[in-house]
Amino acid sequence: MRDFLDWSISLHGKVDEVNERLLLAIHTDQEELYRMSKYTIEAGGKRFRPLLTILAYEISCEEPYSNILDLAAGYELIHTASLIHDDIIDNAATRRGRPTLNNVDGVANAIVVGDYLFAKAYELGSRYGTVVSKIMADASSRLAEGQTLEAFSLGNLDLGEETYLEIISNKTARFFEACAMGATVAAGAGTAISNALSNFAYNLGMAFQVTDDILDIVGDSRKLGKPTFTDIRHSAITLPLIHTLRKTDTKGRQELKRKLMEGESEEVDMNLKNLMVETGAIDYSFSVAKRYSQLALESLKDSGKSPDLNLLMELAMIVIERIEELS
Ligand code: IPE
Ligand code: IPE
Ligand code: MG
Ligand code: MG
Repeated sequence: MRDFLDWSISLHGKVDEVNERLLLAIHTDQEELYRMSKYTIEAGGKRFRPLLTILAYEISCEEPYSNILDLAAGYELIHTASLIHDDIIDNAATRRGRPTLNNVDGVANAIVVGDYLFAKAYELGSRYGTVVSKIMADASSRLAEGQTLEAFSLGNLDLGEETYLEIISNKTARFFEACAMGATVAAGAGTAISNALSNFAYNLGMAFQVTDDILDIVGDSRKLGKPTFTDIRHSAITLPLIHTLRKTDTKGRQELKRKLMEGESEEVDMNLKNLMVETGAIDYSFSVAKRYSQLALESLKDSGKSPDLNLLMELAMIVIERIEELS
């Protein structure tokens, strides 16, 4: 089965150039700030958002992709900043295979580094004019809205699927959409291709986050480079849990609530995982991820043919194939 690594082999040159831009953008004579800023960036990550930005640009115009590298790097900086802050929120121990920045340098420093990366990102975005800047800024605002709705929904066992979808739409999918939209605007593309790529990216983002939420339960933390069971342990209500609750009677619900309140233990994690598999919640969530991946593919059906479009189409399938256990 192909995975992100296989998929991105032909894109390694582009990733290297994005990485160069990232280091250039965050450089500061304040040595500690530079060291801390580099820490999460150099740990890697899939560089999924900058690649989406570059591919959308290449599909939209004939100009060289070097023109869009600053925007691609800008989106990656926002993403990395949001992860640094998210790890503080989730009290996560590892990220991209390394101890989280808050673990190494403390919460106070991690907050400042996140803020710094956001600031640098907007500076990069501003190089593409006001429309692109606004797309970037709006995506960040949506991300904050999504994170806030999630935070205020923690432990709410009555949370419906619709609200869950609203959370992930704001915190993840709108951001993916912004990568494609910003790139097409910078490319001067027409409405049809801009809409097609933006819809593609939005649905890809939805599939991506549903998959991430499934992997939090059935994934391998070493492969993911971050801990599993983080959502359950801090009472984040994700789709597998929502479906499990739907399939459970009142007594079972109370039992589930008790388990969630029991706090962190591997036994509780395993019990909940088994329950989610038995009630069909993992399968159901997978079917939802698949639906979004299909919608992503359909968005591109009238966009013609090119090697870059093929790469995007493959990506829409690879994104959900990360759930190896179910394939
Ligand atoms: C993690 O994103 C946050 C989510 C939206 C699920 P990625 O899985 O793209 O993280 P990196 O960049 O590869 O580390
Ligand atoms: C995504 O949510 C966080 C952001 C979009 C900032 P998660 O909390 O699921 O991300 P991971 O699992 O920690 O990477
Ligand atoms: Mg998290
Ligand atoms: Mg997650």
